[in-house]
Amino acid sequence: MPLTRPDLDTIPRYVAGKNPSDVARESGVAEAVKLASNEVPYGPLPGVVEAVADAVSNTHRYPDPAVVALRNRLGERYDVAPDRIVSGCGSVALAEHIVRAAVLPGDEVVYSWRSFEAYPIITTSCGATSVQVPNTGAHAHDLDAMADAVTERTKVAFVCTPNNPTGTAVHADDLERFLDRVGPDVLVVIDEAYREFVRDPEVPDGLAAAKGRPNVVVLRTLSKAWGLAGIRVGWLAADPSVADAIRKVVTPFSVNHVAQAAALAALDAEDEMNRRVDLVVDERTRVVNAVRELRTDVPDTQANFLWLPLGDDAAEFAAGCEKRGVIVRPFAGDGVRVTIGTPAENDLFLRAAGDLL
Ligand SMILES: Cc1ncc(COP(=O)(O)O)c(C=O)c1O
Repeated sequence: MPLTRPDLDTIPRYVAGKNPSDVARESGVAEAVKLASNEVPYGPLPGVVEAVADAVSNTHRYPDPAVVALRNRLGERYDVAPDRIVSGCGSVALAEHIVRAAVLPGDEVVYSWRSFEAYPIITTSCGATSVQVPNTGAHAHDLDAMADAVTERTKVAFVCTPNNPTGTAVHADDLERFLDRVGPDVLVVIDEAYREFVRDPEVPDGLAAAKGRPNVVVLRTLSKAWGLAGIRVGWLAADPSVADAIRKVVTPFSVNHVAQAAALAALDAEDEMNRRVDLVVDERTRVVNAVRELRTDVPDTQANFLWLPLGDDAAEFAAGCEKRGVIVRPFAGDGVRVTIGTPAENDLFLRAAGDLL
């Protein structure tokens, strides 16, 4: 008899980006750069290291379980009442808490595919059934097909915008039509982990789209633009009753004391965050244009990464990049996601792409 659930054999493992020192050793290069985890490459924001150092002196005490100061600060910044805000150990943990709070065994979770690799893992581990709706030929969400896929068993639908790993983002009119069609009885999670990198004016702010719709939950993170991937702070905005239900399933104290302090300091450095994101967006334009000289089928991206739809060549391309000291993220049989790094890192990737494509 297995000691753990046999259905876990049906879900893939979450694959984290490889470690640069391991890849450098394996490939025999002096140094490898990591363009595999959608991090911003410019270090912690000013004030974060000092805030962490200060907070460390209190490690013998439990953190504030209600995360009051941070929720108040987020509430002010985003004009959301703090009772609508739930924080978590990264937004991936919150995505799991949302599903856990919504589904019973046999319920369905609808999402576009390919999208964030955590969705199938979360859905199955919560005992629900994944309903994966193929992306359009342009690697975007097919929101009409997703609305068609909703049944009376659907409890949650994820809209990942910009979509990880393809970078495409949904437009306001399409999202409104989707929300109207899905109706008020399905929790629609707008996962905006890459919101700060969006420049297309047709892409709505999820927080605005959620106004007046109690079934819409907006998921944000401080991991990407705000540079806190290693310290793990995500947050969501939801109707107060939904937020309250989610809080019941959140692991107690999951945003630790140091993380709360770091998040407050990062939010104080918004101007510098914006400056860095602008650098990434400029580089995104440069890298996408250069890659399109090699392949014309790279979709427009609103995130800090681009998607190479290489199909069966994905794994080989990624291995070729690693040999050249560049770690990218392959999705076997489908494509490769490449994070936008510093100009020098991007040049290294473009050189590898020039050799391999
Ligand atoms: C679409 C999307 N949502 C959520 C997350 C989770 O980020 P974190 O748990 O670091 O907040 C990621 C991370 O890659 C992501 O791509």
